[in-house]
Amino acid sequence: MPNLDPADLVAFLRSLRAIREFRPDPIPQQVVDDILEVGRWSVSAVNRQPWEFVVIRSRGTLDALAGIDGSAGHLAGASLGIVLVMAGKNVTQETYDEGRLSERMMLAAAAHSVDSSIGWFRSSGTDRVKDLLGIPAERTVRTVLSFGYPDQAAQSARPKRDQARKPLAQLVHDERFA
Ligand SMILES: Cc1cc2nc3c(=O)[nH]c(=O)nc-3n(C[C@H](O)[C@H](O)[C@H](O)COP(=O)(O)O)c2cc1C
Repeated sequence: MPNLDPADLVAFLRSLRAIREFRPDPIPQQVVDDILEVGRWSVSAVNRQPWEFVVIRSRGTLDALAGIDGSAGHLAGASLGIVLVMAGKNVTQETYDEGRLSERMMLAAAAHSVDSSIGWFRSSGTDRVKDLLGIPAERTVRTVLSFGYPDQAAQSARPKRDQARKPLAQLVHDERFA
């Protein structure tokens, strides 16, 4: 591990949030390369690395994906989307792998001050995504990550939801659960 200040690293890890309002500025290729490289080094069960990535910058494709059944409308304002294409063979393990992969790619982006959100496609939406992007039917497509530089004005205009996390006292058990 690089010799970074633990307090800074912990603050960085705690700071990752879902950001869905972006400025239109493009994301430099070096940043995209870093996101993909960190994704490549993500961890998977039996080191299967059951993922491939579809990198999307086309405004038309991002808008089309944003309209597909699911909760990925934030792609409409994103500069970049990455669709996670999972192998579709070991569902339980791949689902876990996909979560870790998503988080790492989001953190890699955040290291460059690029924010992101997860979006999930739902029911028949996944088939539409496969048709649109030429993904074979046997693969699992559920997650798209949208990336962009945060639009601070749009975020402060948004009605605030209570984003508080549960306190540790409610989560942590000492030695025994009960
Ligand atoms: C497994 C998973 C699925 C999610 N799916 C979506 C989604 O489909 N659309 C969306 O806008 N956000 C999605 N999110 C983002 C969460 O809604 C968000 O992280 C959560 O509300 C907490 O907000 P915060 O990350 O800003 O603290 C998802 C997050 C996770 C971990």
